[in-house]
Amino acid sequence: ARPVVRRHDLMGLSVVVSAGGTREPIDPVRFIGNRSSGKQGVALAVAAAERGADVILIAAHVDAEVLADALAHPAVRIERAGTTDDLADAVQTAAVSADVVVMAAAVADYRVAGISDRKITKDSAESTTRTLELVENVDILAALCRQRRPGQLIVGFAAETPAEGESLAERARRKVLRKDADLLAANEVGWTQGFEADENALVIVDRAGDVVAEPHGTKREVAEAVWDAVLSIHTP
Ligand code: CTP
Ligand code: CA
Repeated sequence: ARPVVRRHDLMGLSVVVSAGGTREPIDPVRFIGNRSSGKQGVALAVAAAERGADVILIAAHVDAEVLADALAHPAVRIERAGTTDDLADAVQTAAVSADVVVMAAAVADYRVAGISDRKITKDSAESTTRTLELVENVDILAALCRQRRPGQLIVGFAAETPAEGESLAERARRKVLRKDADLLAANEVGWTQGFEADENALVIVDRAGDVVAEPHGTKREVAEAVWDAVLSIHTP
């Protein structure tokens, strides 16, 4: 891999990056989660710090080993979040003084309607199927975009499984318009693609839905491309 040598071109910027995946409890021993490792979010945080930014990394269930580079960097402050509601609180608070917010976390869209205080047992089942009632969570990214201050930039991520004949760019375009984010970076995922990997390939679209970059490489390399795209639209 090429050595990463960048100017301190994010000096003076306060950035917030969310990483990992939120989990929604079902009972004291179970949860609904997702396969996000947090590697891409941590790479974004460390890349920003090395380019001179002050970084708050809000980590949802990121393994210590994945967090190591961020823990070691003096310009990265780490906060932890468990559920989507926790993450929403942490991001909203941090966003107040942020120039850029990057929502790289995989956010649980739903939480469990009646969390059980006791472990759910099979005895309580009426048949061999059972139903878990879910309630929609807040859309953190959409809320950030609605509350955006002048000059503040909001960046979304999307892990997509495009249908046959549908492009990743088209899905990214629809999503950026729906959320009203300044940039959205989409990557393709599948049973054997995307998660835990050390490499990534992104399609980055701007607020109008136009493709501005299609970086691929290590998660650190594509992180650099995301910050390049942020800088290209940032007006101090
Ligand atoms: N996101 C968020 N809050 C949510 C759900 C998603 O902030 N409740 C953010 C993610 O962090 C990501 C972006 O929104 O930056 C896109 O997430 P995605 O799951 O692709 O979008 P959804 O609107 O949830 O659409 P889908 O139905 O495809 O899951
Ligand atoms: Ca979602």
